Amino acid sequence: MQRVITGIDVLLTLDPENGEGPLGELRDAAVLLEDDRVLWIGASAQAPPADERVDAAGCLVMPALVDMHTHAIWAGSRAGEFQQRLAGADYTAILEAGGGILSTVRHTRAAGDEALIAGCTARLARMRARGVGAVEVKSGYGLSPEHEARLLRCAREAGHRAGVRVLTTFLGAHAVPAEWRPDREGYVQHVIEEQLPLAAPHADFVDVYVDRGAFTVEEGERILRAGQAIGLRARLHAEQVERTGAAAMGARIGALSADHLERLDADGIDALARAGTIAGLLPGAMLYLRDAAPPVAAFREAGVRMAVATDCNPGSSPVDDLWTAGTLAAVTMRLTVEEVLLGMTRHAADALGLADRGRIAVGSTGPLLVVEPPPAEPPSAAALVQHLGAPRLRAIVQHPG
Ligand code: NIG
Ligand code: FE
Repeated sequence: MQRVITGIDVLLTLDPENGEGPLGELRDAAVLLEDDRVLWIGASAQAPPADERVDAAGCLVMPALVDMHTHAIWAGSRAGEFQQRLAGADYTAILEAGGGILSTVRHTRAAGDEALIAGCTARLARMRARGVGAVEVKSGYGLSPEHEARLLRCAREAGHRAGVRVLTTFLGAHAVPAEWRPDREGYVQHVIEEQLPLAAPHADFVDVYVDRGAFTVEEGERILRAGQAIGLRARLHAEQVERTGAAAMGARIGALSADHLERLDADGIDALARAGTIAGLLPGAMLYLRDAAPPVAAFREAGVRMAVATDCNPGSSPVDDLWTAGTLAAVTMRLTVEEVLLGMTRHAADALGLADRGRIAVGSTGPLLVVEPPPAEPPSAAALVQHLGAPRLRAIVQHPG
């Protein structure tokens, strides 16, 4: 079925070849779609006829957002730990004492498939309602072969139920579980030899959490390489709590993205720039852990592309609204409006290897958003980032099938 969106006040193609400036902006535009694929972009006055017409007068139109880093499948609550942290407790100290990620692991292992799928579906449905079309979801709260594979399977099922494109990431190296505490090296081998083979059929990517209280650079590299050897693409948590050199390792082995990066140094920035590794910025975790900002000005200068994600998880970033994360990235990390919007669309899609999403070009795919500006504001990209929280969507133009 062909659909045409007409009368678009501001079309953000996110493709500089299709319009003006870094956001590829067009005024008074129209877009023709066949199912979910873009066939034509042009002036509204020249819009071709179609089976269905969507009127976007007074609105912006842009591609659906892409959330490139989430831990959106878990059971249990960490609200009590939030209160402890408000009273002064430290995130890593809680983890080292068996709480934090490990407390979520206990609840997640005890939950049935249906409960896990229902929780994840509910989170994804909220994301979708705010205009997110594709979401990366990590395992990492199972930490055994069966539980890790189960989380990835359930996350994919939740994606189908919520109507969101889900890409899954195996994160068996999220923390050393209690039963492996006395034998870290044994756990690393267990991740590679027992977890990975069972998880891989349900995963698109492999990730490791390299940090104090988690895994070393050397352990992380072995696990990522083992994942790559069986066809998973690598990404990693790097330089969040402590500077470790993880980002440079990720760049060296061809990771698609290195995420967090609050403590990245100049060598790491060079390494990301040379390799074309995308910097995944997670302002939710930065806010909740009261961290300093990652070196955004240096990324800009070095030409490192930046993506912005929610890091949606029950502990360090209980945030499921990517628009909010985007505004936080601007205010707390000093990204420009253009960097925020690219970071939630095109760069995020590239970080997931989705070259036909996160932009509007002939042949691109995925839902399109008809976005109303904030009340009584003229439609502009800047206003969408300025106002905290998701804007009103007049329509999500998506092929129903
Ligand atoms: O990205 N840093 C490690 N992993 C998550 C936290 C997950 C949790 O606290 O449950 C993160 O921030
Ligand atoms: Fe994370």
